[in-house]
Order: sequence, then C-alpha cells, then structure tokens
Amino acid sequence: MSCMAPRFGEGTAATIWSLDDSLMSANNIGVRASFPNVTVLAKLHTIFATLIFSVALVAVGGCEKAPAPTFHLNEVEILKQEKASLANGEHFDDSHDDEIRNILSSLFGTPDQPRFPFLQGDEDPAHEFIDFENLEWAAGRVHSDQDGKPISGLYREHCAQCHGITGDGAGATAAFLNPYPRDFRLSKFKFKSTPLRRSPTDHDLELVLRNGIPGTAMPSFRTLPDEEIQALIDYVKYLTIRGQMERMLISELSSTEGKPLLDMSHAEDGDLVAALAKIESTDASTDRDDDVAESDESRSAFEEQLDYLLNELYFEGPLKRWSNTEDAVTEVPPVPESIRTTHPDHSQLVELGRELFYAKGNCAQCHGDTAMGDGQQTSYDDWTNDWIKSAGVDPTDKSTYQDFLDAGALRPRAIRPRNLRLPVYRGGGRPEDLYLRIKNGIEGTPMPAAATLSDQEIWAMVAYVKSLPFEQVVPQETK
Ligand code: HEC
Ligand code: HEC
Repeated sequence: MSCMAPRFGEGTAATIWSLDDSLMSANNIGVRASFPNVTVLAKLHTIFATLIFSVALVAVGGCEKAPAPTFHLNEVEILKQEKASLANGEHFDDSHDDEIRNILSSLFGTPDQPRFPFLQGDEDPAHEFIDFENLEWAAGRVHSDQDGKPISGLYREHCAQCHGITGDGAGATAAFLNPYPRDFRLSKFKFKSTPLRRSPTDHDLELVLRNGIPGTAMPSFRTLPDEEIQALIDYVKYLTIRGQMERMLISELSSTEGKPLLDMSHAEDGDLVAALAKIESTDASTDRDDDVAESDESRSAFEEQLDYLLNELYFEGPLKRWSNTEDAVTEVPPVPESIRTTHPDHSQLVELGRELFYAKGNCAQCHGDTAMGDGQQTSYDDWTNDWIKSAGVDPTDKSTYQDFLDAGALRPRAIRPRNLRLPVYRGGGRPEDLYLRIKNGIEGTPMPAAATLSDQEIWAMVAYVKSLPFEQVVPQETK
C-alpha cells in the first residue's frame, strides 16, 4: 500500500491568500502598519513549522494508517443537562452515551463514511438542500487523484484544524483564537440574509467561504473551485444538522429517568432509517380503515419511539430549518442615492444617523459614546451563554466551571461590541450588508435587530456607521 501524505495544494494557497488579505487590510487602515514584517515572519514561521512537522511525522511514523477519527460526544451539553435535571453529583448513565453514539452513527455515519437520513429515496425532503456526493467528497481522509484533484477530505484539509472534525468549533487552534471558531452544533449563523432563528441560504454561506470573515481567523477560500465550495457548504449543513440532533437527543434523554429512548435491538444492523421505512411500508399496506384504534394499539413501543424520534424530532427540528431558506430572505430596499459621499444630501443623512445612534437606535449603549465598542462589555455570546447559564456557574470564577472545561468547553470570554471606528466589517462592508446587520441583528450575539427603525432610518445608520472611521472622536456629552 502506498503512503498517503496530506496535500499542500489549495490549503496552503488559501493560507497565503488570507495572509495577503490581512496585510492589505492592515496597511489600508493603518493598523499595525509599522509591524507588517513581524506578521509576515510569524505567519511564514507557522507555515514552515507545519511543513517540517509533517515531514517529521511521516519520517517517524512511517506510512502506518492513523486510526479513523470519530465524532466527539457533546459532553458539555450532557453536563449541562445533568446539572439541570439530576440531583447534585448524579451522572447520566454511561449507557446513555452509548445510545447517543449508536443513534447518531446509524443516522449520520462517521467522519470517514457519512450517511444522511432519507437522502436515498426520491421523495426525501433533504434532496432539496444536500447532495450526498458532496458529503462524500468533503468527508473522509485528505486524498486526491493523480492530477491532484481532491477525491475526499475537503473539510479535513481546509476546516477541521479550527472547526474540529465534529464541527464543535474546538479544533487544534481553537483556544488561541478570538473569536473562537464557530461551533456549528448550535445551528446559529451570524452573517446571513435571513432573519434571526432562520438558517442562512447557500449564497450566504458561499459569501462567508469566499470572503472569509475579516477581522477574525476565518480565512477566505476564494481560490477553491465553485464545486468544492458547494461541497463544503453541504458538509457544514450536515455537521450542523447532526450536532443539533445530538443536542435534542441529550435533552430527550434527560427526562427518561435513566431509561433508553429506543430499544436498538429491534433495528436490523442498528439501521434506524431502514427500520422506519419498514414500519411505514407495513403501515401503508395495512387496511387502516378497519380499526385504527386496534392497529395503533398493536404498534410496538419501538415503532412509536422511532416514529417520534425521526418524524417529529428530526424532521420538524434540525431538518426543517434548512428547507426553503430562500423564502425567508429579508429583502433589502434600493440603496438611496444620498448614501454616496458626493451626494448633496449626504451630510444630512449622516446627521440623522448620528442622532439615531445615540437616541432611538440605542446603539451607544453597547458601542459606546465614542463608538469604539466601549459600552456594555460584560455580555457573552450564545455559544457561551448556552452553558454558563447552568446552575452555579460564574463565568468570572474558574473554580465554578472547571468541570465544563474538562468536558471540552472553551474558557468563557465576554463578547465585545464592535469598535465602529475601524472600517472592518465581518459580514461585509457594502451598504446592503450593513443594512442587513442593523435590520436583522447578528444572531448569537447581543447585537439586536432594529425592530423600530424605518428603512430610511436604517439607511441613515448605515451612512453614519460608514462615516465613523473618518469622524473626529468627541465624547457625545461634550458635543
Ligand atoms: C484558521 C481558523 C479557521 C479555518 C481554517 C476555518 N474557519 Fe470558519 N471560522 C473561524 C472563526 C474564528 C469563525 C468565527 C467568526 C465569528 O464568529 O465572527 C468562523 C466562522 C465560520 C462560519 C460561520 C459564519 C457565520 O455567518 O456565522 C462558517 C460557516 C465557517 N466558519 C465555515 C468554515 C469552513 C467551511 C471552513 C473550511 C473551508 C472554515 N470555516 C475554515 C475560523 C476558521
Ligand atoms: C446590546 C448590545 C448592542 C447594541 C444595542 C447594538 N450593538 Fe452593534 N454589535 C454588538 C456586538 C456584540 C457586535 C459584535 C458581533 C459579532 O460580530 O460577533 C456588534 C456589531 C455591530 C456591527 C458590525 C457588523 C459587522 O459586519 O462586522 C455594526 C455595524 C453594528 N454593530 C452597528 C450597530 C448599530 C448601528 C446599532 C444601533 C442600531 C447597534 N449596533 C446596536 C452589540 C450591540
């Protein structure tokens, strides 16, 4: 068997591209302008160190096959549910861990061999938004054909070091990054054209992948071909849906008083999807008109549980969120002419925006009187709030949450409102992008949706926000 070394093709290209990008933006805005060499050296160092380390690994380890990676169990969620539902010191039974693993691998397979429930049948709703071939392409080991075209492993090559194999945002680099890489399992996305609590469209995710998220570690992948970007988008959805299903299972198990959710012995080869299909085909062939009550009664507990798990939890929960996302898109009205700095009414628009910023818009509460992000700074984002709201946890006192760190949580860090004096916009700097951020808020963060502002007022805020990097800093009370 030949030895398969990781590819350094597009992955390195993407790193170098983002290196260019970060330097360009740093120079443009004059931030760290006197240290670019240090930044370049540090980044080159990292690249060389990675290369040398990889060569050393192959030399030391030879070509022995590494064990196949597995998805991590969401132990933070388990601990959180334990604290919410069990008496102090009690733990979920270990059999629950196995049950969650078994159900999830029956539905979603493994990092090397993904499955996706109901993707095989023609009428399955999942076809609408996930292509199974894409999942196979993005999953698995980094592997390419003789021409260097990737056969599998796109996610592991480009994303796993930050987002983790499981999509839990806890890759090898995670603890050193601020903000942390996204944990997809919460099914929340920040920069999108849809309102709060709606999933992003493919186009939204494509923009994030192509442009990266400026001002964060999330790099741009614009050198990748369209099909690879789409495969990665489908894989992000897969990890998100899997992760959300896992959270739902853990929450369900917290109220079964130690009993299992399903008796897996009823499913042949542990295949739940096949078991459900069998039940449904038997149901369809039974003459239900005869005596519905009697046939319902005769359904085994397993059938009912499985029906609940897949039809009610999975379909109505994680899966449904991703269908018809296009229909939920917030329409952006035409950008007013006066947003152009050369327009005669521009300064009037900016002035209106400034007034709203400090009064009706309530923006200064967080972004501060100077708009430098120095307002309210003690909030946490939803990924952190999700577990620090558990009983007894004080995010400023490590001794109260050491058990969560041991379970895999990342140290809580308060989220800072953005310094709007720097022209770095994570979700894009076009007026249309800022309109969406202000109108819909930023999901998972304290930044609220501007429910009471009219379109004209939102455009005024956009104009003011865009003018802030050029405005003299004068504390509001002295104006
Ligand atoms: C060097 C680290 C790093 C790598 C590599 C990386 N990301 Fe990210 N990613 C981040 C960080 C950090 C964030 C969080 C940014 C934030 O919250 O503002 C993020 C956020 C995201 C988001 C959320 C966007 C949103 O609107 O909320 C998606 C989707 C995403 N990454 C997908 C990917 C995919 C797919 C890949 C691989 C092709 C990838 N990332 C590679 C660090 C990384
Ligand atoms: C309750 C606190 C809070 C309030 C009120 C608030 N923001 Fe924010 N805002 C934030 C936080 C936190 C972020 C950073 C979110 C992130 O990217 O993780 C942010 C980010 C932003 C961004 C950056 C968007 C990007 O793409 O990078 C803009 C612009 C912005 N806010 C404008 C406003 C305006 C205008 C208002 C008033 C209508 C406002 N904010 C009100 C907390 C707030």
